[in-house]
Amino acid sequence: MTAAAAHAAASIEGRRLIKTFGSFTAVDGLTLNIRSGEFVSLIGPSGCGKSTFMLMAAGLIPISQGELLVNGKQLTSPLTDIGIVFQDHLLLEFRTAMENVLLQAEIRGLPLEPARERALELFAKLGISHAADRYPKQLSGGMRQRVSIARALIHNPAVLMMDEPFGALDAITRTQIRHDLELLWMEQAKTVVFITHSIEEAIGLSDRVLVMSPTPGRIVDEIAIELPRPRPAHLGDYPSFNHYADRIHDAFRRFGVIRY
Ligand SMILES: Nc1ncnc2c1ncn2[C@@H]1O[C@H](COP(=O)(O)OP(=O)(O)OP(=O)(O)O)[C@@H](O)[C@H]1O
Ligand SMILES: [Mg+2]
Repeated sequence: MTAAAAHAAASIEGRRLIKTFGSFTAVDGLTLNIRSGEFVSLIGPSGCGKSTFMLMAAGLIPISQGELLVNGKQLTSPLTDIGIVFQDHLLLEFRTAMENVLLQAEIRGLPLEPARERALELFAKLGISHAADRYPKQLSGGMRQRVSIARALIHNPAVLMMDEPFGALDAITRTQIRHDLELLWMEQAKTVVFITHSIEEAIGLSDRVLVMSPTPGRIVDEIAIELPRPRPAHLGDYPSFNHYADRIHDAFRRFGVIRY
């Protein structure tokens, strides 16, 4: 493997992770292993600890107990080789789309001209070339999330973490942005940790879906999604899609999250 390839993605391993906030246990014995270059979704009921896990895995909040390893090494400080996309785009209103993306490059001290070129490439792949000079308030919600994705990828990080990135978007926009993200990932092969409440989105995007229990969260099922890529808009054409979706529903039924 070349040096460049070695940095293309990273593995993330959690061993019996526990996170407490005072006397409250948010994550209780979460064990998972995300392989380098893998696209993994975490799906689970609200409050089960998905965002908490993501913040721990990014090194942004400390773990209370257990072990967290990135590329086999204990994580002791915030990951820098990472891009994060949140549900809320968190773009600066007084900067254009391009300026928002380049801010990430500026903060990281990257040469700006190559970063601008990369941003233009990402904008083209995300279908927002025409929006580079617009301000966030001049963009639709879907376009803003696309800018957030470009911002998260501008420095070519090994890991991309996405916390319900499409949660606020309408179903049609979600279907298209899901496809665009899948194509980007297929080309760049980063490790992706994708948090969602959408069963369809999890199956549509992932190599593996990790199903979490209600609070305190831990992994209760793990489903390898063996569907060819890129995946179609209408996943129901695959009989196995229904099988995967049933399995996720069943896990939620066992925990009373779904009661019918
Ligand atoms: N800083 C904090 N202090 C105290 N409690 C917290 C803190 N952060 C999270 N929690 C609690 O930990 C639990 C898990 O929160 P988390 O945000 O990880 O859930 P989630 O699975 O991401 O939920 P959602 O799907 O609604 O985003 C919740 O009960 C939450 O109130
Ligand atoms: Mg959350």
